Amino acid sequence: MFPESLWTTDLIMRPIALGDAAAIFDEYAQDPEVTRFLTWAPHEVLADTEAYIARCLASPNARTFTLLGRRDRQLRGAITIRRPVPGRVGFGYALSRRSWGQGLMTEALTEVASWAMKQKGIWRIGDVCDVENTASARVMEKAGFEREGLLKRWIVHPNLSDVPRDCWSFARTR
Ligand SMILES: CC(C)(COP(=O)(O)OP(=O)(O)OC[C@H]1O[C@@H](n2cnc3c(N)ncnc32)[C@H](O)[C@@H]1OP(=O)(O)O)[C@@H](O)C(=O)NCCC(=O)NCCS
Repeated sequence: MFPESLWTTDLIMRPIALGDAAAIFDEYAQDPEVTRFLTWAPHEVLADTEAYIARCLASPNARTFTLLGRRDRQLRGAITIRRPVPGRVGFGYALSRRSWGQGLMTEALTEVASWAMKQKGIWRIGDVCDVENTASARVMEKAGFEREGLLKRWIVHPNLSDVPRDCWSFARTR
């Protein structure tokens, strides 16, 4: 249903664990620049990050992977793979600010897409990003996703506004 772990040139992706809470809290979960376009508010206390990880671990249709630098084993971010319905995979991701702009999420998403497109019965991997999240749109483009169109008033990004915002939809299919 989900990979056990995935490896790229620069990253190890392994299932998130409660023991990651302190590193995730310190590295990015409190950072309003990282959470700007996410569906959750910046964490205020370590218990917020622990609760987030507990929710990840309890989700039957998704698995969240911690991204570690392959050489230094430092925590860089996380990527979630979702299987909301048969035949289709979705995802979400975030990186600590000091890890931005090094091609890391393009590398991670390319690997996830390559895994997905090899799975029997999966025909589509895709997700959305806020219309202003240029870095995320670029990551999906660089990972070979097609920009399918603009979904008007699609998702609330509560750190920006309390009404649904327009999102770009991206997908790879086979
Ligand atoms: C989105 C995010 C994961 C990108 O990760 P990353 O490893 O820095 O991405 P990459 O280095 O692989 O590629 C980023 C691309 O976006 C471009 N980019 C970044 N910020 C940009 C901006 N403000 N305007 C235009 N392009 C931008 C970079 O130049 C790069 O493209 P290039 O290689 O053609 O130059 C990272 O910025 C992040 O964690 N953001 C906060 C969380 C988030 O928004 N998650 C996605 C929710 S949909």
